[in-house]
Amino acid sequence: MAAFHQRVFSGVQPTGNLHLGNYLGAIKRFVELQAQHECVYCVVDLHAITVWQEPEELTRNIREVTAAFIACGIDPKKHIVFNQSQVSGHAELAWVFNCIARLGWLNRMTQFKEKAGKDRENASVGLYAYPSLMAADILVYRATQVPVGEDQKQHLELCRDIAQKFNNDYGKRISDLGFGDAYFPLTEPLISGPATRVMSLRDGTKKMSKSEPSDNSRINLTDDADTIAQKFRKAKTDPLPLPSTIKEMEERPEADNLIGIYAALADKTAEDVLKEFGGAQFSKFKEALTELAVAKLGPIGAEMKRLTADPAHIDAVLADGSARARVIANQTMKDVGKIVGFVGSSS
Ligand code: TYM
Repeated sequence: MAAFHQRVFSGVQPTGNLHLGNYLGAIKRFVELQAQHECVYCVVDLHAITVWQEPEELTRNIREVTAAFIACGIDPKKHIVFNQSQVSGHAELAWVFNCIARLGWLNRMTQFKEKAGKDRENASVGLYAYPSLMAADILVYRATQVPVGEDQKQHLELCRDIAQKFNNDYGKRISDLGFGDAYFPLTEPLISGPATRVMSLRDGTKKMSKSEPSDNSRINLTDDADTIAQKFRKAKTDPLPLPSTIKEMEERPEADNLIGIYAALADKTAEDVLKEFGGAQFSKFKEALTELAVAKLGPIGAEMKRLTADPAHIDAVLADGSARARVIANQTMKDVGKIVGFVGSSS
């Protein structure tokens, strides 16, 4: 396989209620990767409208996710921060990929099944084709690494399948045009650390999610100290003291979840946290967890508030990022046009 320019890409949907799972599973990793990589971080507004979004709310949410990126420590000058709808290459490449991906592949996507629920006939075509757009997001930048939470694993496998089939189907063209033996990289998912799947505070077997009706199930990035304290105090636990080993945690999803959250916030391993708190009462641990979460999230929430109070600044950041993203995406679309054989793509 050809050597590809190393580039990180990831995206977050502007659908409201950014939570601790989004932060620990994704955005915190985005921040860490900036030191060693060239990064492109996207507010995926085209993905958001696969289910109905009130227009004013969508606008607010696009700005809020952008503010969260910046407040968490993403540098939009050194890296690229933009919103998906402003770079037409995403939707264009998604169409090409709709013609590469097979119905059978999309039929296997568990997220579609979960989101469409029982009334599948009434789900949007966009929701069904979502993973193909997601592959386009990544591959229009020919990104080599994608940091995500565990719930996106299947979509990233599909992205690799699409890249591979494109490279195979057009293999001769790709090499005749001088692109080597593959045009798209087989992107590597980056899913690691103690919080790749943060669970609901009300039920340790369910994922923490933006759409869960109970606000007590999640810590939002904009929650204040009192709300964070109250939510952790109410968080479901079992009656035993904290486990002392990873093995003991296996049958105790709520303990596992809270320990994972603590470890991720403190940049420690779950083993380190067990060494410190194994055998302690949950009430004591929850106090320490609250203190840590308030120390880490408080400044982020405050900075998000400050940034969202100046929408013109956020919009300028997005416009600048979109212009820079477009340069990369347009080049890819030119190459793809040539590879596929569209007239007019050669200039
Ligand atoms: P979204 O907007 O649902 O979530 C954004 C990121 O947060 C992660 N995440 C979690 N991680 C740990 N625990 C949780 N409970 C939790 N909930 C969410 C997600 O895994 C994700 O990394 N399809 C994507 C957005 C997307 C994308 C892309 C991602 C569109 N195109 C291209 C990467 C590359 C999504 O809906 O994420």
